[in-house]
Amino acid sequence: MKPEVYYFTGTGNSLVVARDIVKEIDGELISIPSVIAKSSIKTDAKVIGIVFPVYIWGIPLIVQRFVKKIENLNDKYIFAVVTYGGMAGGTINILEKVIETCGGKLSAGFKVNMPGNYIPMYGAIEEKKQQRMFEKWRKKVKIIAEHVKSNKQDKKENDNMLINFLSGLIYNSSAKHIREMDKRFWTDGKCIKCGICQKVCPANNIDMTDGKPSWKGNCEQCFACLQWCPEQAVQFGKNTSVRKRYHHPDVNVTDIVKKTGV
Ligand SMILES: Cc1cc2nc3c(=O)[nH]c(=O)nc-3n(C[C@H](O)[C@H](O)[C@H](O)COP(=O)(O)O)c2cc1C
Repeated sequence: MKPEVYYFTGTGNSLVVARDIVKEIDGELISIPSVIAKSSIKTDAKVIGIVFPVYIWGIPLIVQRFVKKIENLNDKYIFAVVTYGGMAGGTINILEKVIETCGGKLSAGFKVNMPGNYIPMYGAIEEKKQQRMFEKWRKKVKIIAEHVKSNKQDKKENDNMLINFLSGLIYNSSAKHIREMDKRFWTDGKCIKCGICQKVCPANNIDMTDGKPSWKGNCEQCFACLQWCPEQAVQFGKNTSVRKRYHHPDVNVTDIVKKTGV
């Protein structure tokens, strides 16, 4: 049974990371949104990878739900790779605890610095900086693959204990508000009613009302709807209309749409 690498992504960073790992370890690539509706996730794979972005120094809600649905976690080698824009905080630690609660063990956790996509705070960074990050990743994927292929244990790239502790507090107080934060999305006059925002949403959280998107209060905060809008018509709060959009240059909208599976 091939290793299975599950991923969640909004703007493609985690998809590229998962895709590259799959090539190196001869694994199978599976999107988390494509399996999340199942009541439980059964797999005979002995090696499982989980790749996802850091959200508020923690793990996306969909990733929590996903881990809780996997059967027989205890007989698997589990590794995780988190992509982050500035500081990953205690994300790996938080994931480790969720896995342990489900009877499994996180054997290795890596972090990969990628361009940040948190547009309420900043726009896309300049392309040269992006390329430097991608270059570093191309080297790191080999190290991760070697680790996984030899089933090595106990490599966790956490930040220091104080940051872990603080980020745990921040994550726990923020996570409960994530779903309803979509109240702050809106569309401006550039909306051409193409529906791409609805198609890229991994949470099936967008309805088209009179051709325009409306958000349903079940958001993962991935910002795919905003970042992939071809007209840059989707906004969040007051400041995003002047900020440069971001998605990984090796990922296109079709990659995101076809992998959502909802
Ligand atoms: C809601 C949200 C929260 C984020 N929080 C953090 C964070 O706490 N620390 C960090 O370094 N990056 C943070 N980021 C940036 C992403 O983790 C980073 O850009 C990631 O690589 C995006 O992955 P993706 O392209 O697969 O969606 C956040 C992004 C979003 C959308």
